Amino acid sequence: MSVRVAVLASGGGSNLQAMLDAFNTVADAPARIALVISDRDSAGALERARALDVPAFVVPVSGRPEAEVAADTLELLERHAIGLVALAGYLRLVPAAVIRAYAGRMVNIHPALLPAFGGKGMYGSRVHRAVLASGARVTGPSVHYVTENYDEGRIIAQWPVPVLTDDTAETLAARVLLVEHRLYPLVIAALALGRTEREAEPRAASFHWLEHAAPDAAEMIHLIQPSPLD
Ligand code: GRF
Repeated sequence: MSVRVAVLASGGGSNLQAMLDAFNTVADAPARIALVISDRDSAGALERARALDVPAFVVPVSGRPEAEVAADTLELLERHAIGLVALAGYLRLVPAAVIRAYAGRMVNIHPALLPAFGGKGMYGSRVHRAVLASGARVTGPSVHYVTENYDEGRIIAQWPVPVLTDDTAETLAARVLLVEHRLYPLVIAALALGRTEREAEPRAASFHWLEHAAPDAAEMIHLIQPSPLD
């Protein structure tokens, strides 16, 4: 029994790919990407999902009432029996009704060390430009619970990444993104393990998965201590 995860993405979906590689192509994974939702039909994330036969849908947002977007999103999440929602480059505000329905079971990855460099309008290269302008020598991704305010939910995990003297927003973004690809699957796995730890069998299977995921993953996962999902 693995936790069924939905990924919401607007863009290229490299974080989605990291999760697909970690979970969907490996036996005994503690989590599975079981649904992908995007707000735009050009999102590369949709292709990445379909390539592995993961159901992928567009829920348009522009010009639609929030209640309609919420109803479509909740219908998909319920129909696919989703236990955990991971935002990965989703550039829309998730409707409040969806956030409430998945409170404590919806997470986001942000490419800077929150609570700094977050909030409305802080996405993409704007985040990395702000880090460079601040003179900070350390940055890195944060994974946090999603609440109704941008980037304000409780932080679950962070991973420091150095800022180098000759960095541009692009070189910094690329270095942080590589770390995102390691961190996000580990956090999702930790959350999934938390959800299933009362069931002996899935937990044993999950540690088998960890040995395959990354040589150091089993050690690192103990550093991530999410609160129970429910
Ligand atoms: C990542 O930098 C993530 O931190 C931010 O959006 C970007 C998504 O990139 N929330 P990708 O679509 O996963 O490649």
